[in-house]
Amino acid sequence: MKFSAVVAAGIAMAGSAMAALDPIVIRGNAFYTNGSNDRFYIRGVDYQPGGSSNVSDPLADSDGCKRDVPVFKNLGVNAIRVYTVDNSADHDDCMSLLDDAGIYLLLDVNTPKQSLNRNEPGPSYNAAYLQAIFATVDAFKKYDNVLGFFSANEVINDVNSTATAPYVKAVTRDLKRYIKAQSSRTIPVGYSAADISQNRWQQMEYFNCGNESETIDMFGMNDYSWCGDSSFQVSGYQQNVENYGNYSIPMFFSEYGCNKVTPREFSEVETIYSSQMSPVYSGGLVYEYSQEANNYGLVKLNGDSVSYLTDFYNLKYALGNATDPSGSAGASTTRSKANCPSYEEGTWEVRGTDLPEVPSGAEKYFSDGAGKALGFNAPSTQWSSGNSSDSDSDSDSSSSASASSAGSTATSGSQSSAASTSTSKSKGGAGAVEVPSMMNSIYSLVLGGLFSLGLML
Ligand SMILES: *[C@@H]1O[C@H](CO)[C@@H](O)[C@H](O)[C@H]1NC(C)=O
Ligand SMILES: *[C@@H]1O[C@H](CO)[C@@H](O)[C@H](O)[C@H]1NC(C)=O
Ligand SMILES: *[C@@H]1O[C@H](CO)[C@@H](O)[C@H](O)[C@H]1NC(C)=O
Ligand SMILES: *[C@@H]1O[C@H](CO)[C@@H](O)[C@H](O)[C@H]1NC(C)=O
Ligand SMILES: *[C@@H]1O[C@H](CO)[C@@H](O)[C@H](O)[C@H]1NC(C)=O
Ligand SMILES: *[C@@H]1O[C@H](CO)[C@@H](O)[C@H](O)[C@H]1NC(C)=O
Repeated sequence: MKFSAVVAAGIAMAGSAMAALDPIVIRGNAFYTNGSNDRFYIRGVDYQPGGSSNVSDPLADSDGCKRDVPVFKNLGVNAIRVYTVDNSADHDDCMSLLDDAGIYLLLDVNTPKQSLNRNEPGPSYNAAYLQAIFATVDAFKKYDNVLGFFSANEVINDVNSTATAPYVKAVTRDLKRYIKAQSSRTIPVGYSAADISQNRWQQMEYFNCGNESETIDMFGMNDYSWCGDSSFQVSGYQQNVENYGNYSIPMFFSEYGCNKVTPREFSEVETIYSSQMSPVYSGGLVYEYSQEANNYGLVKLNGDSVSYLTDFYNLKYALGNATDPSGSAGASTTRSKANCPSYEEGTWEVRGTDLPEVPSGAEKYFSDGAGKALGFNAPSTQWSSGNSSDSDSDSDSSSSASASSAGSTATSGSQSSAASTSTSKSKGGAGAVEVPSMMNSIYSLVLGGLFSLGLML
């Protein structure tokens, strides 16, 4: 199976093109290359040219991959995270370039139009939505270098959006069930969480508690707490290692790289890949590859050309000097699942452990498969209880789904939103609440066609 992409790409030379990667597997709270006892630490970069909320598919862009994969290799990464893909597109070229370069993929299955609506999760959890994300699984399950899928990113983005948690968990359950039924290989499913100190632990517990069929396989945290010349202690990493020391599944940074001090030195890299962190963490991904308005880039893209910024070299050398701890490095297979967190007014407003049932009409996908992938042209699935007949009318730029740009604040030291980099081409539309974004970014939703992007903090 893994060779078909190579053949399809028309690469005739047998030997050299067949550097097929082994899948990554999870044992206890760590990743391993299948068949090996050496841990796999994610050394990654987040990759979505145009910004993490740009509705474009970087893995369907063969020229873009030919331009960027050698740069990933030069940087020394073994994983990328992509926030949005077109499930109807062909990804063979990019996936085999990545595979040849020894690079795994972490993929968000949602798009701005096919995702849970934070403000009204119920109606947005529907069969059309599940069809879309299942079709995305279908498009990628054949690639052995898919490390895992994210069922959602930062849906809980504040203390007042915790009521969405059962929906996120239901989506996780459905994805796991779909993969079990429709994929020949187990592929991990995780959640990528916003950095909310008040309820982060409850999130971790909630997604880790209860029946295995409903729990996440890995936890990604978007964490910007190490800024400039910080330390294990000052950054809060040490506290996290202590607090989360009994977590039973792999944890890693799905986004890191505070830019309050620039150029970024990436002094945290040495600590992330040290034995201080390794009993609990398995590396992370730096936000982000390309320079966008919010100033988190490692390189500047311009057509076919790539210019390296100082951050690129700083990260490359930091990674180059950071050696993975050897052996199991404190990993454990005996930690138990968390207890479900209890209801807490204003912080964790979830009662009980019941999850929404699979929406009507979606049951058939588990047995029959998702069917035809509808790609970026599919109508929005973010239905609402008001469900006006024109709920999709925002799908072209005429309704100016424009995000207010954070560009101007990006250098002021505030955590600007990654989502804010979206251009006027963003098709986020009403309820684009699950747009990939960094901590503190919030989509405030105006039902009826417009959205605006508010920056918190
Ligand atoms: C790991 O390797 C074993 C033995 O080769 C194989 O049976 C198993 O299916 C592999 N697991 C995954 C997830 O690929
Ligand atoms: C952003 O998305 C649009 C398509 O929606 C695409 O044309 C554009 O190239 C993307 N931006 C970048 C920098 O990739
Ligand atoms: C949470 O509070 C923020 C700011 O107070 C508000 O903008 C947002 O709409 C609220 N979200 C929900 C889901 O109530
Ligand atoms: C866990 O969930 C599965 C699938 O729904 C079910 O078959 C099984 O009985 C459950 N196990 C427990 C202990 O509840
Ligand atoms: C982790 O588990 C051990 C053994 O059960 C216990 O002594 C310790 O207090 C736990 N630590 C945390 C942070 O929960
Ligand atoms: C280690 O860091 C130094 C100083 O930044 C750099 O010159 C060197 O190339 C790095 N080593 C590797 C293997 O990246």
